Amino acid sequence: MARLLVVSFLPKGPLSRTRRLLDAWLAKRRAGEPALAVDEVDLVHTELPPVDGPVALAKGAVAAGSHLAPTQQRAWEAITPWAEEFLAADEVAIAAPMWNFSLPYPVKHYLDVVVQPGLLFRYTEQGSHGLCAGKPLTLVTTRGNVYADLPQVNFQTAYLRWLCEFIDCRYSEIVAEGLDVRGPEAGEKILSEVIARL
Ligand SMILES: Cc1cc2nc3c(=O)[nH]c(=O)nc-3n(C[C@H](O)[C@H](O)[C@H](O)COP(=O)(O)O)c2cc1C
Repeated sequence: MARLLVVSFLPKGPLSRTRRLLDAWLAKRRAGEPALAVDEVDLVHTELPPVDGPVALAKGAVAAGSHLAPTQQRAWEAITPWAEEFLAADEVAIAAPMWNFSLPYPVKHYLDVVVQPGLLFRYTEQGSHGLCAGKPLTLVTTRGNVYADLPQVNFQTAYLRWLCEFIDCRYSEIVAEGLDVRGPEAGEKILSEVIARL
């Protein structure tokens, strides 16, 4: 049975248009793969471990293959299960709107927790090496404006695409964009059309 891990940050709850897009995409996926198991990490209602000094020091120590002090060990044990859950999934989806040309801060926090040496990547004499074995990672997002002709300011795509290169995930995205810029009616039409084409 394939396991899809959905990491969501959709603070508008049922009013979220990204939630509508995610739910439609999941319904389509489930129709094609009835055995697909979906687990959701809802970042609106989840307390992530901090990524603080002990985690940063532990990260350096693990990357260097050196001993962890007790505080670093405890911090490392707090973040490891999150990275293991990410690794155990056959596929990952990140569902969040665009915020200030990038991902909302809880999603960045989640990624700072899970992207760790010895777990999602390792350093070698030839450089860094991703450990996610080509796992598919899909960004499910909606955006107020249109970025098709403005890729240089779409830091959401640029950041996640490069992160996927780093950890060896296969990046793709499901996007409805331009939902705010021409008013709510035009936005609703765009979202409905994207959902109908899924
Ligand atoms: C804090 C905040 C920042 C936003 N920044 C951007 C932005 O940089 N670019 C953009 O196109 N839309 C931006 N938007 C608009 C949202 O991306 C858009 O309305 C999206 O469809 C909201 O999705 P949701 O209904 O799932 O919350 C922003 C919205 C909020 C609340």
